[in-house]
Amino acid sequence: MLELTDVRAGYGRTEVVHGVTMTVPDGGVVAVMGHNGAGKTTLLRAAVGLVKITHGTVTFDGTDVTHMRPSGRVARGIAYVPQGQQSFGQLTTEENLRVVADGRKRGKEKIKEVLDLFPALTTLLDRRAGLLSGGQRQQLAIARALITEPKLLILDEPTEGIQPSVVAEIERTITELASRGGLSVLLVEQHIGFALESADRYHVLEAGRVTSSGAGGAGADVSIETVAADVRAALTI
Ligand SMILES: Nc1ncnc2c1ncn2[C@@H]1O[C@H](COP(=O)(O)OP(=O)(O)OP(=O)(O)O)[C@@H](O)[C@H]1O
Ligand SMILES: [Mg+2]
Repeated sequence: MLELTDVRAGYGRTEVVHGVTMTVPDGGVVAVMGHNGAGKTTLLRAAVGLVKITHGTVTFDGTDVTHMRPSGRVARGIAYVPQGQQSFGQLTTEENLRVVADGRKRGKEKIKEVLDLFPALTTLLDRRAGLLSGGQRQQLAIARALITEPKLLILDEPTEGIQPSVVAEIERTITELASRGGLSVLLVEQHIGFALESADRYHVLEAGRVTSSGAGGAGADVSIETVAADVRAALTI
């Protein structure tokens, strides 16, 4: 599905990602964890085409997309929800969904489907997105991404600053979507518990390099607590 091979990327002359290799398999959930500034967002942006890759390759569904523009990658089935839950603040929830759905085949049905996934949004359809809570905005941002029917959903810290009950809701939805098949997820996440509950595989990123990898809770034959202890140990280096 998505393969990053020895990817180097950064800003201007400053390299931030120093040769990262990882694979997101068909229908798999892969979590990337790491401290602030480790290069997690930069890695995702490189995968999506928003940051230039200076070395290495990105392939998606067997096609080399290393130097393809973001719009080309989106057209091939990659959806990216950036850190910070951006939607159009002046538009209502419903308008935000319609902006993406209008003109698409089965647009209206797609909106209904994402509202089924995030029922909390149903009562907020007339509210401006700028007035939604952080958790509600995050759900709206994921809902908008899902309307494009992606093959790969890339999420940058979907639970940042969100209360635990909403975190659980988002986790349930992501796990459910992935288990239905047809969707792979690449997730950056600082909540180790959340990341490991949903992930088949995890990678710890430290200063632009993968320093530790393993099977996540969904794919491990040991308990989540054991995996989480490994990750915490890796993160304190
Ligand atoms: N647009 C930019 N221009 C220059 N440097 C940047 C830019 N964006 C990020 N950086 C730098 O790249 C490094 C990695 O940043 P990045 O946002 O990828 O980290 P992160 O792991 O996502 O952190 P966080 O957990 O805080 O979101 C940091 O040192 C940051 O200052
Ligand atoms: Mg980040």
